[in-house]
Amino acid sequence: MSTGPLHPLENRLLRHLVGKEDQTPELVAKSTKMKPDQVRRAAEWLKTKGFVESKVRLLREIQLGPEGVKAARRGLPERRLVRLVSDKGGSMSLGDLRKSFASPTELNPALGYARRRSWLQFSQIGTGPVVEVSNIPRPTTEETLLERMQSHSVETENLTKSENRALGELSTRPGYIVEVEHKEVLLRLTPAGKSASSKLGSTSELDAITPSLLASKAWRKRPLRAIDVEAPAPAVHLGKKHPVQRFLDEVREIFMSLGFEEIEGPTVQPCFWNFDALFIPQDHPARDMQDTFYLSGLQASQVADRRIVREVANVHHDGGNTGSMGWGYDWDENGGRRIVLRTHTTAVTIRYLAENVLEEGRVFSIGKVFRNEKVTYKNLVEFHQIEGIAFGPKVSLRDMMGLLSQFYSRLGLDKVKFWPSFFPYTEPSLQSMVYFEKMNKWVELCGMGIFRPEVTLPLGIKNPVLAWGGGLERLVMLRYGVDDIRQLYQNNLGWLRSLPVCL
Ligand code: PHE
Repeated sequence: MSTGPLHPLENRLLRHLVGKEDQTPELVAKSTKMKPDQVRRAAEWLKTKGFVESKVRLLREIQLGPEGVKAARRGLPERRLVRLVSDKGGSMSLGDLRKSFASPTELNPALGYARRRSWLQFSQIGTGPVVEVSNIPRPTTEETLLERMQSHSVETENLTKSENRALGELSTRPGYIVEVEHKEVLLRLTPAGKSASSKLGSTSELDAITPSLLASKAWRKRPLRAIDVEAPAPAVHLGKKHPVQRFLDEVREIFMSLGFEEIEGPTVQPCFWNFDALFIPQDHPARDMQDTFYLSGLQASQVADRRIVREVANVHHDGGNTGSMGWGYDWDENGGRRIVLRTHTTAVTIRYLAENVLEEGRVFSIGKVFRNEKVTYKNLVEFHQIEGIAFGPKVSLRDMMGLLSQFYSRLGLDKVKFWPSFFPYTEPSLQSMVYFEKMNKWVELCGMGIFRPEVTLPLGIKNPVLAWGGGLERLVMLRYGVDDIRQLYQNNLGWLRSLPVCL
């Protein structure tokens, strides 16, 4: 078997085992100053190389139980009894003894043991029984054994005959002795290990270059340990950002690098900004309870500037002075006051445009949106949208396609196509699709278009506004090859840990 170079730990163990039999790792550790764990590891490696073999020995040891510990410390009850009586002059009445013996429950057994050993005798003097001791007996084997066991456990194999008998005696006393079994590993060299050890050079390989080795240049004369860079190592789980958050930050970076500024807006919006200002008619199916979360019992007192509200009402009714025919119905202002969890970030966009009437600009927003849909592998009730707008006197649909192609390419998605689509607030309207190589399919990513005059004119905006928006989670799924959107928020630690720290 080709074994390659030995690790310094293997080297040390191999050397140590030469000429020795049945070494436990603990013993080796003590005499080599290796750590027990290092010995065990080195032993495992050498075993796989066929240089070391091990066997397991089952050891039975006896230790003191709780009562045994007490007896070892204070003496056996019969010993304490005899001591007490001789301290009192060699005899005591049973009545006195009852009063002065420390633990009354122990007295009877103590008397029993002492009498059996003939350490004392009873006699009847005058009114009652009297206990007499002639001399203090010498320590028994039981007592010496107890004392020995106080400091360490004892292997049954190593006991003498009389100790064994004493152990038997002690074991009959409740709580004195407990028996424990444990396994001991014994190491020794195999024949291959013996011959390998004879070939070891006198200088071991260096496995670390220390400042002193460098200063003395001693490292030049010593072989360096080859390091197996492919050896399995324990996995290290670094703290890192959640994949959704990380992607979000990346998107933010990309928008900024394209010259966009971030805007924010409330999650809770009046219908006016979520729908009406976007020329979505009040009977539009998307507003239905199935799709939108309405906050019950809440109404905005004032949704916008009176002038804007009036213009929006006119636009819905007959197009106002935008040149449009409108939707041909009477827009109800109370409907516009109802509060919803925003269903898209376009609510943020339009509100920004109304509050900042500018000639030109580029802004984006990232935020949570809510839709009352059944949660499935492709739908969540709350998710993120990213949305951008670019406006100015000269912007065109081509610019938008260019910007989006740039955006996707910075996310590593290079194959993009645009497809006609429909939104009530844009004309023309498009849908972008990107080709996703790993899945070999085109995926719809975001909606876009140029805001209709019905949207911009009531706000006083004259220049074209390019707008696009779409879900963020879908992009995250493509990035990480996730095919169930719910997985992004289940926070399965195994999955989170498996994601690379750097992409
Ligand atoms: N708001 C649209 C959606 O939620 C996306 C969109 C944004 C479309 C801007 C056109 C313009 O899908």
